[in-house]
Amino acid sequence: MQKSKIAGIGKYVPANVVTNNDLLKYMDTSDEWIQERTGIKERRYAKRTGETTTTMAVEAAKIAIERAGITPQDIDFIVFATLSPDYYFPGCGVLLQRAMQMKEIGALDVRNQCSGFVYALSVADQFIKTGMYKNILVVGAEKHSFGLDFSTRGRNISVIFGDGAGAIVLQPTTKDNQGILSTHLHSDGTSAEILAMYNPGTHANHWAEQKVADFNDNEIGDMFMSHEMIDNAQNFPFMDGQSVFKKAVVKFPEVIMEALAANGLQTADINMLIPHQANLRISQFVQHKLKLNDEQVYNNIQHYGNTTAASVPIALCEAWEKGKIKDGDVVCLAAFGSGFTWASALLKW
Ligand code: UT7
Repeated sequence: MQKSKIAGIGKYVPANVVTNNDLLKYMDTSDEWIQERTGIKERRYAKRTGETTTTMAVEAAKIAIERAGITPQDIDFIVFATLSPDYYFPGCGVLLQRAMQMKEIGALDVRNQCSGFVYALSVADQFIKTGMYKNILVVGAEKHSFGLDFSTRGRNISVIFGDGAGAIVLQPTTKDNQGILSTHLHSDGTSAEILAMYNPGTHANHWAEQKVADFNDNEIGDMFMSHEMIDNAQNFPFMDGQSVFKKAVVKFPEVIMEALAANGLQTADINMLIPHQANLRISQFVQHKLKLNDEQVYNNIQHYGNTTAASVPIALCEAWEKGKIKDGDVVCLAAFGSGFTWASALLKW
């Protein structure tokens, strides 16, 4: 049966490097705390104006498309993963289609946060396997710096995240020693509120225990975003970091082992594991648990922070550019995050 292969890959990170010490201007934190708890030394922030989630995705996509030896007009479907879209709607997929002057192709946005790219890859893989499309652009991109609370109140979240984009072109292959072997997708919505941005939204306090605003059944409209929400900083993401951490270190190894078992492989067969760059301590925990050596795992959170949907393609691209991934290598992608959702993909490069 026809499989899909990564025919081209690209990444883009903004030029602006923000060190841990740079953040001291805005909040009570320290380089020591951030490095010790997360491994992060610096991250990149997009320009406030002139650089958006979509424009960063365009830069990554241009490289991926060129490396695949095709043109933007050859792309026949877009899958775009992000939690920080340019607009609440429409999604970034159509903005990318417009910016790259692509044909009137389908454009799908995926909202699965940290596991967004692996989910997007899985969706694209199915379309290639059925023969429906031949050149799918799969993108993960984020401009977090525009939506974080940079006061001390938001420091547990804001120090972690960074901006950037990664993209791949997925094409069919019939070669035995190449292509996506399997993808594995999971969710558990019982903890949806543990890592979430509640507003703007239509929940009207229905799900979360914490009251967000006073909603009156006899009124209509205008509560999508209120002054009260903004005054109480309820327009920023919320995270119970410890709970996320505890679940992540269970689900990462589980979904990696699931991918290996589905293909009759062992941890020793992995040439490169690209874990979503959530926290260096999580990646190290997973490496230790699976008894992988340093050459089998790639981390770059130290320099980019957690770029959510962009982290897996950025790390994959960087590892490949450094010559750490070669033709025929077994590569495992794995991610866990808000939802909770988690996912893995096993492929031969
Ligand atoms: O990719 C999306 C998925 N997200 C994740 O995977 C994140 C998983 N969780 C984590 O990475 C960690 O939980 C964090 C890095 C977010 C936090 O580390 P932690 O070791 O769990 O710290 P904590 O939240 O338990 O906070 C410990 C202390 C608190 O002070 P007290 O109450 O002990 O006095 C916090 O107020 O650290 C304080 N703190 C900070 N101090 C300096 C929280 N953030 C900061 C900060 N700088 N930026």
